[in-house]
Amino acid sequence: MKNRPIAVFDSGLGGISVLRQLVEQMPQEHFLYFGDSKNAPYGSRATEDIRALTLKNAETLFARGAKALVVACNTATSAAIDTLRERYPERIIVGIEPALKLAVSRHPKGRILVMATDATLREHKFAALMDRFAAQCDICKCPCPELVSFVERGELTGPALEKTLRRELEPCLQPEPDAVVLGCTHFPFLRETIQRVVGAGPELLDGADGTAKEAERRLKEAGLLREPGLPGTVELTNSLQTAEILALSERLLEE
Ligand code: DGL
Repeated sequence: MKNRPIAVFDSGLGGISVLRQLVEQMPQEHFLYFGDSKNAPYGSRATEDIRALTLKNAETLFARGAKALVVACNTATSAAIDTLRERYPERIIVGIEPALKLAVSRHPKGRILVMATDATLREHKFAALMDRFAAQCDICKCPCPELVSFVERGELTGPALEKTLRRELEPCLQPEPDAVVLGCTHFPFLRETIQRVVGAGPELLDGADGTAKEAERRLKEAGLLREPGLPGTVELTNSLQTAEILALSERLLEE
């Protein structure tokens, strides 16, 4: 069981930002990444639809022998993590949520902007997270429906991206935020342009590190970690399975 892979799932290529962190945290592990780029973006879909796609993909990954599943997608986590845990009670399933807790701990009483998909921001999981911290800071929800497609086509910088970012972020930039939470796993790949648009002041934060640490903690607790020092591997797969998407996946992993 220990030598089986850790499956990492996202609606597309964004979860590779979490995979990088997982590999850094647990270099001795085998990772099986699956991006559902054929059906991306999930963030503009109905909740039922996101849940059905996530369950189908999780089933395939467990059938391929995964010892654990990391849902490296905020959107899929908010729509499906409870159902996944009900369906696979004996499995290790780790999700990701916008790093609001981290932002509040670093900027108590601060102004925090949360960039995420429409689906993440409308789900009750995010409402509950916001309720926990709303009294301690000023939280501004910022839906960014167009950014995922930029990452899916490998356009990580450039004037079109900057223009879109300015349009999507503008309503939230006055007064200047103290922190910006990248609440979608695609967004860390756009970090450079996001920082330029929000200015040098705000700190950009994401949940990849916390998710990787949680995955390691859960695997350790279950006695399922491989011995440190053993060579690990990464297999990148995608529902599109074209040479272009696999080359872009490799590029993002190297970023
Ligand atoms: N990467 C996903 C997330 O973390 C969303 C991308 C999508 O809309 O498909 O929310």
